[in-house]
Amino acid sequence: MTVTIVGSQLGDEGKGGVVDLYGDAADVVARYQGGDNAGHTVVHDGEKYKLSLVPSGAVRGKIGVLGNGCVVNPETLFSEIDKLRERGLEPDVRVAERAHVILPYHRVLDGIEEDEKQDLAAGTTKRGIGPTYEDKMGRRGIRIGDLLEPEVLRERLEYVVPQKRALAEDVFGVSVSDANGGSSDESDGAEVGEGFDVDHLYETYREYGERLAAEGMTVDCGTFLQERIDAGENVMLEGAQGTSIDIDHGIYPYVTSSNPTAGGATVGTGLGPTVVGQGEVIGIVKAYLSRVGTGPLPTELGGVEGQTPDYDGNAPADEEVLATYIRDEGGEYGTVTGRPRRVGWLDMPMLRHAARASGFTGLAINHVDVLAGLDEVKVGHAYEYEGEELLTMPPTTEKWGRCEATFRTFDGWPEVDWADVASEGYEAIPENARTYLEYVADELEAPIYAVGVGPGREETVVLENPYE
Ligand code: GDP
Ligand code: IMO
Ligand code: MG
Repeated sequence: MTVTIVGSQLGDEGKGGVVDLYGDAADVVARYQGGDNAGHTVVHDGEKYKLSLVPSGAVRGKIGVLGNGCVVNPETLFSEIDKLRERGLEPDVRVAERAHVILPYHRVLDGIEEDEKQDLAAGTTKRGIGPTYEDKMGRRGIRIGDLLEPEVLRERLEYVVPQKRALAEDVFGVSVSDANGGSSDESDGAEVGEGFDVDHLYETYREYGERLAAEGMTVDCGTFLQERIDAGENVMLEGAQGTSIDIDHGIYPYVTSSNPTAGGATVGTGLGPTVVGQGEVIGIVKAYLSRVGTGPLPTELGGVEGQTPDYDGNAPADEEVLATYIRDEGGEYGTVTGRPRRVGWLDMPMLRHAARASGFTGLAINHVDVLAGLDEVKVGHAYEYEGEELLTMPPTTEKWGRCEATFRTFDGWPEVDWADVASEGYEAIPENARTYLEYVADELEAPIYAVGVGPGREETVVLENPYE
């Protein structure tokens, strides 16, 4: 059977930890969308692993698959695999031949376009995610399978690279041979020049193809996974990002360019919707909100310069104090970029929208420990929009930006020994925290499968194992 893990908010809900928790019973863990914009944390034997591309299950010896819905930067992939090997692990990673490849020009263009967009910029990770998906949809992308066929690779590069160069130079006015063009931090002038050079790209990516082939890493993803399921094995489908940054269901245009929602799990792996639908779909919820990037956020506390729209550093002082408390307690600094994340109270319309879009069969609610010690905990129960109460998100971001959250207040819960709580079980969670959790489950009409009370796998109260 399959278990699909979906972020129900804005990313960083603790998906990596839940994949790790339930991954024991899985034989294969497959990612179905996104690329190295993700940052998933797994804490294993006191060691912290931050994974951008390798599926989280690979830390525990599961086969990790990057599905056809992913965009793959081979440089990141191999450097991540090599680093895991240096730490004594033997990650077994397979890559869908239909997955698209992130090339250096995608990263450069991501930077250039972000600078150009100004107010419309999503604050991307500059990993080239958007430009790669654009090329996929524009039918000018290069796929993993093409890296294994040098003539095809050459032909595709010869078609597309001059266009990318013209886009950078003639449309955006950025010279790609000498300027860094606002690309990734690691790029220097020389790399950017090479990033638009057909011969250089051909040699470099053909070599990546050779390594993929030599290590037997490429698969026909749907067939590979279906055969496993037919053999009675358990497959976990690991979503990256979250529902509110989904290209279709999120706060467009402040979104990523793929579908983290559960529909993405079928299109992005080649398993049928009926197969994924027979399994479980678990919504991962952070007990409050965090956000890396721009756009409105009705339940935001305080603000972060450069991300909170129109933020001038003058949010109410008590909100700033709360925001700083939650940010520091929760370590809300980006896994990939180290940027401070925006924080806010839980947003129930956002969660109702997520539960519907993905059809959650269960919930894992994380970071309950982070809110401990507060006198009271609020949730945005609904929005007020033009005199009406809304229980779910409106379809446009502009309308969402005009929504005022209406809050419910819960009594806070004390700081306790969370490791003890996790070993004793659900009833050991402080009563006020249980009231809060049960409110969320009731509103979303989905049972609680797990409650995260700390970053480690042992710091999780497990109520239900979806594979049993
Ligand atoms: P992902 O992108 O959804 O996998 O989440 P990230 O790894 O980017 O961010 C989640 C962070 O919170 C990581 O540092 C986790 O180790 C940590 N974390 C996960 N669950 C919990 C929890 O229940 N409590 C606390 N305090 N931290 C958690
Ligand atoms: P995980 O899997 C949080 C955000 C970026 C930006 C927008 C678009 O760790 O939850 P992109 O580089 O994807 O084009 O950026 O999406 N974003 C994330 N925010 N967690 C993530 O992944 C994210 N991946 C992308 O900050 O606002
Ligand atoms: Mg993350």
